Amino acid sequence: MAFRHFIARRMVHGGVLIGAILICWMASKIALQILVEGRSDDLHAVDTFQNIAETKTTNEMTSDFTVGKPKEESAHKAKEDGSYKTNEKTADNTLKETANKLNKESVPNTKKSQKKDRFGDDVKHPILLWWTYSPGKRPGEYVSCGNVKCYITDDKEYFDHDLTRILMFYGTDMLMNELPLPRHPKHEWGLLHNESPKNNRYWFSHPEIMHMFNYTSTFKRESDYPITTQDVEDIEYLQTKKYYIPLQEKNKLLAKEGLAPIVYVHSDCNVPSDRDAFVKALQKYIPVDAYGKCQNNKKMPPHIDGLLQLQHKDFFKLMAKYKFTLAMENAVCDDYVTEKFWRTIHLGSVPIYFGSPKIKDFLPNDPSAIIIQDYKNISQLADFIHHLNKNDEEYAKYMQHKVQGVTNKYLIDRVKNREWGYTGNRKYYHWTAGFECYACSKMHENLKREKLGEQTEIHQSKQDHYGCPPPKRFDLETESTEQFTVERWNEEYLMTQTESKLLIKWIAQGKIRFKENDLIKEGLKLRGINY
Ligand SMILES: *[C@@H]1O[C@H](CO)[C@@H](O)[C@H](O)[C@H]1NC(C)=O
Ligand SMILES: *[C@@H]1O[C@H](CO)[C@@H](O)[C@H](O)[C@H]1NC(C)=O
Repeated sequence: MAFRHFIARRMVHGGVLIGAILICWMASKIALQILVEGRSDDLHAVDTFQNIAETKTTNEMTSDFTVGKPKEESAHKAKEDGSYKTNEKTADNTLKETANKLNKESVPNTKKSQKKDRFGDDVKHPILLWWTYSPGKRPGEYVSCGNVKCYITDDKEYFDHDLTRILMFYGTDMLMNELPLPRHPKHEWGLLHNESPKNNRYWFSHPEIMHMFNYTSTFKRESDYPITTQDVEDIEYLQTKKYYIPLQEKNKLLAKEGLAPIVYVHSDCNVPSDRDAFVKALQKYIPVDAYGKCQNNKKMPPHIDGLLQLQHKDFFKLMAKYKFTLAMENAVCDDYVTEKFWRTIHLGSVPIYFGSPKIKDFLPNDPSAIIIQDYKNISQLADFIHHLNKNDEEYAKYMQHKVQGVTNKYLIDRVKNREWGYTGNRKYYHWTAGFECYACSKMHENLKREKLGEQTEIHQSKQDHYGCPPPKRFDLETESTEQFTVERWNEEYLMTQTESKLLIKWIAQGKIRFKENDLIKEGLKLRGINY
């Protein structure tokens, strides 16, 4: 989505870039590759918000397989389901005073509040303006957050409104040449970004970009409103035996049906983590059944073949037969742990995991997964998998979450203590609503200070609120599947690294209207790349 816009835009204003494509060897390969490939992962946004509407399993067969429902639909559903309802009992006490004051003012009802003239709607609550918003339209509504209220809209007309205090961005959709500039002194910026760095050119890896924001909600535990466990419905989701096949039965099934010990299902190939190259290398040591487009060697049963069937219970049943599942993120970044990992745990297969270097903090038990980074080389890893495959007692240790339950206190706390989730008695149905309310309470705190003539508290995001490192593949002496997979993603990283410095400089100089290609062109020039 966002990326397609981005590419479309590149193509429209793309005279210069097309020139670059023809002449600049490296940059051109990247641009071409992007144009040709049409990234499947960029649909993850829809997928993620779809979680609002569906049971956990919607997301199950990896974002790579996204089957997009109209996004408005899910946003709608969320509302019906009361995602914006809050639990007053748990409202932040420190906000009560402000709240009482504000609540005395009458809240205009939405019908009356249709804009008469520009701001004839007499909104009396602080306004959160979504500058880029993924899950659908947000024409404007009052949201209750405990004892305080805010007005939330994606109507850019509100940019100039007296009460607009926070401008919010959805990371994947953000275009750096369409920032709300010049920056209004009263505006703070918020970033919501739950997706892979690959989805938006690795922009948020760079300190210059991260420092533009005041509030963040990302998968990083360091962010202001962390959503690291975004794909864990609840602890029971990990413990459930719904699809779990006990080991003896599994061994029999695998033999009877001639299945490999390991399964791999991905259809987004040539990603920054270069997982296909790894799978290819591993297959020299141990059989892998690959059902997706990448490295495909196995056909799906006809009735669950095709993208639309990937939420089919028979599909999960098939996956649950496997003893091991390759669960590999498309990019390596601390705390970027997706449904690829959690679904495997849910189904009762052992993840062979590559992704977040801090995954051990989140394992249901010790051990629950085989962590690729623990091994020196592929043959050592394959030896270990063979060993587990043959040794039932050892294998059983990896299934403790299905027998004794989850014991990792950190994981339990992170899931139990969060405000959002579609099960249990949560304040918010979805983390988007949670972050909006977090921002709402900040606006109220700051407004209160303003009224008292006090300084606004300075609150600035740090690089580690997202800050994914340069593209990293596993370092197990494997060769890249595509000659330029690694170079290509690294080039994206390097491009935005230069462009972000340039961007900040331009903004400081007051140059606020420019085309994306100006940035790309200047960036390449700065790096001494001829185009
Ligand atoms: C893999 O690493 C192990 C442990 O360091 C070593 O003994 C073995 O020779 C290596 N195998 C290959 C194929 O490089
Ligand atoms: C918000 O972030 C901007 C950019 O870093 C910074 O200049 C500004 O002081 C911050 N505002 C507050 C109130 O912290």
